[in-house]
Amino acid sequence: MTFLALEGLGKRFGSHVAVDGLTLGVEKGEFVSLLGPSGCGKTTTLQMIAGFVEPSAGAIRLEGRDLLAVKPAKRGLGIVFQSYALFPHMTVAENVAFGLEMQGVAADERRRRVGETLELVGLAAFSGRFPRQLSGGQQQRVALARALVIRPRILLLDEPLSNLDAKLREEMQIELRQIQRTLGTTTILVTHDQAEAMALSDRLVVMNQGRAEQVGPPHVVYERPATPFVASFLGRTNLVAGETVRPEKIVFAATGLAGKVRTRIFQGNHWLYQVETASGLLTVIRQNSGEAMPGEGEQVHLAWGKA
Ligand SMILES: Nc1ncnc2c1ncn2[C@@H]1O[C@H](COP(=O)(O)OP(=O)(O)OP(=O)(O)O)[C@@H](O)[C@H]1O
Ligand SMILES: [Mg+2]
Repeated sequence: MTFLALEGLGKRFGSHVAVDGLTLGVEKGEFVSLLGPSGCGKTTTLQMIAGFVEPSAGAIRLEGRDLLAVKPAKRGLGIVFQSYALFPHMTVAENVAFGLEMQGVAADERRRRVGETLELVGLAAFSGRFPRQLSGGQQQRVALARALVIRPRILLLDEPLSNLDAKLREEMQIELRQIQRTLGTTTILVTHDQAEAMALSDRLVVMNQGRAEQVGPPHVVYERPATPFVASFLGRTNLVAGETVRPEKIVFAATGLAGKVRTRIFQGNHWLYQVETASGLLTVIRQNSGEAMPGEGEQVHLAWGKA
Protein backbone atom coordinates (compact mmCIF):
# COMPACT_ATOMS: atom_id res chain seq x y z
CA MET A 1 0.00 0.00 0.00
CA THR A 2 1.14 3.54 -0.71
CA PHE A 3 2.37 5.11 2.53
CA LEU A 4 1.13 8.65 1.88
CA ALA A 5 -1.47 9.27 -0.81
CA LEU A 6 -2.60 12.65 -2.09
CA GLU A 7 -5.76 12.08 -4.11
CA GLY A 8 -7.06 14.83 -6.35
CA LEU A 9 -5.93 17.37 -3.79
CA GLY A 10 -7.07 20.91 -4.48
CA LYS A 11 -7.01 24.32 -2.83
CA ARG A 12 -8.77 27.49 -3.88
CA PHE A 13 -8.23 30.88 -2.30
CA GLY A 14 -11.34 32.75 -3.46
CA SER A 15 -11.29 32.41 -7.23
CA HIS A 16 -7.58 31.60 -7.32
CA VAL A 17 -6.72 27.92 -7.75
CA ALA A 18 -3.47 27.34 -5.83
CA VAL A 19 -3.42 23.54 -6.03
CA ASP A 20 -5.34 21.86 -8.82
CA GLY A 21 -6.17 18.17 -8.49
CA LEU A 22 -2.78 16.91 -7.31
CA THR A 23 -2.47 13.13 -7.12
CA LEU A 24 0.72 11.65 -5.72
CA GLY A 25 1.78 8.51 -3.89
CA VAL A 26 4.81 8.55 -1.58
CA GLU A 27 6.39 5.29 -0.40
CA LYS A 28 7.65 4.69 3.10
CA GLY A 29 11.24 5.93 3.47
CA GLU A 30 11.12 7.85 0.22
CA PHE A 31 12.55 11.35 -0.26
CA VAL A 32 10.29 13.32 -2.59
CA SER A 33 10.73 16.94 -3.61
CA LEU A 34 8.05 19.33 -4.79
CA LEU A 35 9.86 21.54 -7.25
CA GLY A 36 8.53 24.49 -9.20
CA PRO A 37 8.51 28.24 -9.65
CA SER A 38 7.27 30.75 -7.09
CA GLY A 39 3.51 30.59 -6.61
CA CYS A 40 3.02 27.13 -8.16
CA GLY A 41 1.44 25.73 -4.97
CA LYS A 42 4.30 23.92 -3.22
CA THR A 43 3.88 25.43 0.24
CA THR A 44 0.10 25.16 0.03
CA THR A 45 0.43 21.44 -0.71
CA LEU A 46 2.78 20.93 2.25
CA GLN A 47 0.52 22.95 4.54
CA MET A 48 -2.43 20.75 3.61
CA ILE A 49 -0.43 17.66 4.59
CA ALA A 50 0.63 19.41 7.81
CA GLY A 51 -2.97 20.38 8.52
CA PHE A 52 -2.51 24.15 8.55
CA VAL A 53 -4.48 24.68 5.34
CA GLU A 54 -7.76 22.93 4.68
CA PRO A 55 -8.13 21.42 1.18
CA SER A 56 -11.03 22.52 -1.02
CA ALA A 57 -11.05 19.15 -2.76
CA GLY A 58 -9.56 15.68 -2.58
CA ALA A 59 -8.19 13.45 0.13
CA ILE A 60 -4.97 12.70 1.98
CA ARG A 61 -4.35 9.20 3.31
CA LEU A 62 -1.56 7.95 5.53
CA GLU A 63 -1.30 4.16 5.51
CA GLY A 64 -4.82 4.10 4.15
CA ARG A 65 -6.31 6.23 6.93
CA ASP A 66 -7.93 9.61 6.34
CA LEU A 67 -5.32 12.13 7.50
CA LEU A 68 -7.66 15.10 7.16
CA ALA A 69 -9.74 13.74 10.03
CA VAL A 70 -6.70 13.98 12.32
CA LYS A 71 -5.85 17.25 14.10
CA PRO A 72 -2.53 18.80 12.99
CA ALA A 73 -0.81 18.18 16.36
CA LYS A 74 -1.81 14.51 16.25
CA ARG A 75 -0.57 13.77 12.74
CA GLY A 76 2.93 12.84 13.96
CA LEU A 77 4.71 15.03 11.43
CA GLY A 78 8.09 16.70 11.77
CA ILE A 79 8.04 20.12 10.19
CA VAL A 80 10.79 22.55 9.25
CA PHE A 81 9.54 25.71 7.60
CA GLN A 82 11.73 28.52 6.41
CA SER A 83 10.07 30.85 8.87
CA TYR A 84 9.92 28.27 11.63
CA ALA A 85 12.20 30.17 14.01
CA LEU A 86 13.74 28.64 17.12
CA PHE A 87 12.58 29.81 20.53
CA PRO A 88 15.17 32.51 21.31
CA HIS A 89 14.92 32.22 25.11
CA MET A 90 15.48 28.46 25.13
CA THR A 91 18.79 26.62 24.78
CA VAL A 92 19.45 24.26 21.91
CA ALA A 93 18.55 21.27 24.11
CA GLU A 94 15.35 22.94 25.33
CA ASN A 95 14.35 23.81 21.78
CA VAL A 96 14.82 20.21 20.71
CA ALA A 97 13.07 18.83 23.80
CA PHE A 98 10.00 20.99 23.28
CA GLY A 99 8.07 18.57 21.07
CA LEU A 100 8.75 15.69 23.44
CA GLU A 101 7.45 17.71 26.38
CA MET A 102 4.28 18.41 24.42
CA GLN A 103 3.94 14.66 23.90
CA GLY A 104 4.37 14.08 27.63
CA VAL A 105 7.59 12.06 27.26
CA ALA A 106 9.28 11.55 30.66
CA ALA A 107 12.35 13.64 31.53
CA ASP A 108 14.92 10.82 31.40
CA GLU A 109 13.71 9.59 28.04
CA ARG A 110 13.58 13.21 26.84
CA ARG A 111 17.22 13.80 27.79
CA ARG A 112 18.31 10.61 26.09
CA ARG A 113 16.48 11.36 22.86
CA VAL A 114 17.58 15.00 22.73
CA GLY A 115 21.19 13.87 23.21
CA GLU A 116 20.86 11.24 20.51
CA THR A 117 19.30 13.65 18.03
CA LEU A 118 21.82 16.43 18.65
CA GLU A 119 24.53 13.84 18.08
CA LEU A 120 22.87 12.95 14.78
CA VAL A 121 22.93 16.54 13.51
CA GLY A 122 26.44 17.14 14.85
CA LEU A 123 25.49 19.57 17.60
CA ALA A 124 26.08 17.52 20.74
CA ALA A 125 28.59 20.09 21.99
CA PHE A 126 26.16 22.97 21.53
CA SER A 127 23.25 21.82 23.67
CA GLY A 128 23.64 24.63 26.25
CA ARG A 129 23.87 27.46 23.76
CA PHE A 130 21.12 29.87 22.81
CA PRO A 131 20.04 30.26 19.16
CA ARG A 132 21.66 33.72 18.89
CA GLN A 133 25.02 32.09 19.71
CA LEU A 134 24.79 29.80 16.65
CA SER A 135 25.55 30.25 12.96
CA GLY A 136 22.75 30.07 10.40
CA GLY A 137 23.65 26.50 9.48
CA GLN A 138 23.75 25.42 13.11
CA GLN A 139 20.32 26.98 13.69
CA GLN A 140 18.97 25.09 10.70
CA ARG A 141 20.31 21.89 12.20
CA VAL A 142 18.61 22.63 15.51
CA ALA A 143 15.35 23.12 13.62
CA LEU A 144 15.94 19.79 11.90
CA ALA A 145 16.75 18.09 15.22
CA ARG A 146 13.57 19.53 16.71
CA ALA A 147 11.55 18.02 13.88
CA LEU A 148 13.34 14.65 14.00
CA VAL A 149 13.35 14.11 17.76
CA ILE A 150 9.67 13.20 17.82
CA ARG A 151 10.43 10.41 15.31
CA PRO A 152 7.95 11.78 12.81
CA ARG A 153 6.04 9.56 10.45
CA ILE A 154 6.79 12.10 7.75
CA LEU A 155 9.31 14.92 7.68
CA LEU A 156 8.01 18.03 5.90
CA LEU A 157 10.65 20.54 4.83
CA ASP A 158 9.76 23.88 3.23
CA GLU A 159 12.85 25.57 1.78
CA PRO A 160 14.76 24.65 4.96
CA LEU A 161 18.13 25.69 3.58
CA SER A 162 17.19 28.87 1.76
CA ASN A 163 18.80 31.20 4.33
CA LEU A 164 22.22 29.64 3.93
CA ASP A 165 25.05 30.71 1.65
CA ALA A 166 25.88 28.45 -1.31
CA LYS A 167 28.70 26.48 0.32
CA LEU A 168 26.95 25.84 3.63
CA ARG A 169 23.81 24.96 1.76
CA GLU A 170 25.62 22.28 -0.18
CA GLU A 171 27.14 20.86 3.02
CA MET A 172 23.74 20.83 4.69
CA GLN A 173 22.22 19.06 1.67
CA ILE A 174 24.73 16.25 2.09
CA GLU A 175 24.09 16.06 5.83
CA LEU A 176 20.34 16.12 5.35
CA ARG A 177 20.52 13.29 2.86
CA GLN A 178 22.74 11.23 5.17
CA ILE A 179 20.47 11.78 8.16
CA GLN A 180 17.41 10.92 6.11
CA ARG A 181 19.05 7.73 4.83
CA THR A 182 20.19 6.75 8.33
CA LEU A 183 16.75 7.18 9.87
CA GLY A 184 14.72 6.14 6.82
CA THR A 185 12.25 8.93 7.50
CA THR A 186 9.75 9.54 4.70
CA THR A 187 10.53 13.10 3.63
CA ILE A 188 8.81 15.70 1.48
CA LEU A 189 10.93 18.70 0.58
CA VAL A 190 9.64 21.88 -1.00
CA THR A 191 12.16 23.85 -2.99
CA HIS A 192 12.42 26.04 -6.05
CA ASP A 193 16.11 25.09 -6.35
CA GLN A 194 16.42 22.43 -9.05
CA ALA A 195 19.97 21.44 -8.13
CA GLU A 196 18.94 20.90 -4.50
CA ALA A 197 15.92 18.84 -5.51
CA MET A 198 17.97 16.70 -7.87
CA ALA A 199 20.76 16.17 -5.34
CA LEU A 200 18.47 15.04 -2.52
CA SER A 201 15.46 13.28 -3.94
CA ASP A 202 14.44 9.78 -4.87
CA ARG A 203 11.71 11.37 -6.96
CA LEU A 204 10.84 14.86 -8.13
CA VAL A 205 7.39 16.31 -8.55
CA VAL A 206 7.72 19.22 -10.96
CA MET A 207 4.81 21.53 -10.30
CA ASN A 208 3.37 24.25 -12.52
CA GLN A 209 0.29 26.31 -11.67
CA GLY A 210 -0.96 23.91 -9.00
CA ARG A 211 -0.50 20.77 -11.06
CA ALA A 212 2.15 18.07 -11.23
CA GLU A 213 3.66 18.28 -14.71
CA GLN A 214 5.98 15.33 -14.21
CA VAL A 215 6.83 12.89 -11.43
CA GLY A 216 9.92 10.69 -11.57
CA PRO A 217 13.50 10.06 -10.49
CA PRO A 218 15.72 13.14 -11.02
CA HIS A 219 17.79 11.69 -13.88
CA VAL A 220 14.69 10.56 -15.75
CA VAL A 221 12.94 13.91 -15.38
CA TYR A 222 16.13 15.67 -16.43
CA GLU A 223 16.92 13.41 -19.39
CA ARG A 224 13.37 12.95 -20.58
CA PRO A 225 11.32 15.99 -19.61
CA ALA A 226 7.64 15.37 -20.32
CA THR A 227 6.79 18.94 -21.27
CA PRO A 228 8.65 22.05 -22.50
CA PHE A 229 7.97 23.60 -19.08
CA VAL A 230 9.79 20.79 -17.28
CA ALA A 231 12.66 20.93 -19.77
CA SER A 232 13.20 24.63 -19.32
CA PHE A 233 12.65 24.59 -15.55
CA LEU A 234 15.23 21.87 -15.02
CA GLY A 235 18.10 23.83 -16.44
CA ARG A 236 19.34 24.89 -19.81
CA THR A 237 18.08 23.21 -22.95
CA ASN A 238 18.51 23.59 -26.68
CA LEU A 239 15.71 22.99 -29.11
CA VAL A 240 17.13 21.74 -32.42
CA ALA A 241 14.78 20.53 -35.14
CA GLY A 242 12.03 19.85 -32.64
CA GLU A 243 14.39 17.87 -30.40
CA THR A 244 15.37 18.91 -26.86
CA VAL A 245 19.14 18.69 -26.38
CA ARG A 246 20.89 19.20 -23.05
CA PRO A 247 23.93 21.50 -23.36
CA GLU A 248 26.31 18.89 -21.92
CA LYS A 249 25.29 16.36 -24.61
CA ILE A 250 26.63 18.55 -27.42
CA VAL A 251 30.28 18.09 -28.34
CA PHE A 252 32.71 19.94 -30.58
CA ALA A 253 33.41 17.60 -33.51
CA ALA A 254 35.18 17.53 -36.86
CA THR A 255 31.86 17.48 -38.70
CA GLY A 256 28.29 18.33 -37.78
CA LEU A 257 26.22 21.49 -37.39
CA ALA A 258 28.44 24.44 -38.32
CA GLY A 259 28.60 27.38 -35.93
CA LYS A 260 30.61 30.24 -34.53
CA VAL A 261 31.42 30.70 -30.85
CA ARG A 262 29.74 33.87 -29.65
CA THR A 263 30.69 33.64 -25.95
CA ARG A 264 32.79 31.34 -23.81
CA ILE A 265 32.61 31.50 -20.03
CA PHE A 266 34.87 29.57 -17.66
CA GLN A 267 32.93 28.14 -14.72
CA GLY A 268 35.61 26.17 -12.90
CA ASN A 269 34.84 22.55 -13.66
CA HIS A 270 33.27 23.34 -17.02
CA TRP A 271 33.05 25.78 -19.92
CA LEU A 272 29.77 27.37 -20.90
CA TYR A 273 29.45 28.26 -24.60
CA GLN A 274 26.94 30.11 -26.73
CA VAL A 275 27.31 29.09 -30.35
CA GLU A 276 25.57 30.77 -33.31
CA THR A 277 24.27 28.17 -35.76
CA ALA A 278 21.73 27.91 -38.57
CA SER A 279 19.39 26.36 -35.94
CA GLY A 280 19.76 29.39 -33.68
CA LEU A 281 21.90 30.18 -30.66
CA LEU A 282 22.83 26.93 -28.87
CA THR A 283 24.20 26.47 -25.37
CA VAL A 284 27.05 24.00 -24.97
CA ILE A 285 28.60 22.83 -21.70
CA ARG A 286 31.95 21.02 -21.82
CA GLN A 287 33.79 19.60 -18.83
CA ASN A 288 37.10 21.31 -18.16
CA SER A 289 39.60 18.56 -18.82
CA GLY A 290 42.54 20.94 -19.09
CA GLU A 291 42.60 20.59 -22.89
CA ALA A 292 42.57 23.58 -25.23
CA MET A 293 38.99 24.61 -26.03
CA PRO A 294 37.60 26.68 -28.94
CA GLY A 295 37.75 30.41 -28.26
CA GLU A 296 35.31 33.23 -28.99
CA GLY A 297 34.86 33.93 -32.69
CA GLU A 298 36.14 30.49 -33.75
CA GLN A 299 34.32 28.39 -36.35
CA VAL A 300 33.24 25.03 -34.88
CA HIS A 301 31.10 21.99 -35.66
CA LEU A 302 28.61 20.61 -33.16
CA ALA A 303 27.46 17.02 -32.81
CA TRP A 304 25.20 15.23 -30.36
CA GLY A 305 24.06 11.65 -29.92
CA LYS A 306 20.42 10.72 -30.25
CA ALA A 307 18.83 9.92 -26.89
N1 LIG B 1 -3.68 32.43 2.32
C1 LIG B 1 -3.71 32.70 1.02
N2 LIG B 1 -4.67 33.49 0.49
C2 LIG B 1 -4.72 33.76 -0.82
N3 LIG B 1 -3.86 33.26 -1.72
C3 LIG B 1 -2.89 32.47 -1.28
C4 LIG B 1 -2.77 32.15 0.11
N4 LIG B 1 -1.70 31.32 0.26
C5 LIG B 1 -1.19 31.16 -0.97
N5 LIG B 1 -1.90 31.84 -1.90
C6 LIG B 1 -1.66 31.86 -3.35
O1 LIG B 1 -1.61 30.52 -3.83
C7 LIG B 1 -0.58 30.35 -4.77
C8 LIG B 1 0.36 29.26 -4.32
O2 LIG B 1 1.08 29.71 -3.18
P1 LIG B 1 2.20 28.85 -2.48
O3 LIG B 1 2.63 29.56 -1.26
O4 LIG B 1 1.72 27.46 -2.34
O5 LIG B 1 3.35 28.91 -3.58
P2 LIG B 1 4.82 28.29 -3.57
O6 LIG B 1 4.89 27.34 -4.71
O7 LIG B 1 5.15 27.78 -2.22
O8 LIG B 1 5.71 29.57 -3.93
P3 LIG B 1 7.14 30.08 -3.33
O9 LIG B 1 8.20 29.32 -4.09
O10 LIG B 1 7.15 31.54 -3.71
O11 LIG B 1 7.15 29.84 -1.86
C9 LIG B 1 0.09 31.71 -4.94
O12 LIG B 1 -0.45 32.34 -6.07
C10 LIG B 1 -0.30 32.44 -3.68
O13 LIG B 1 -0.38 33.83 -3.90
MG1 LIG C 1 6.50 28.40 -0.72
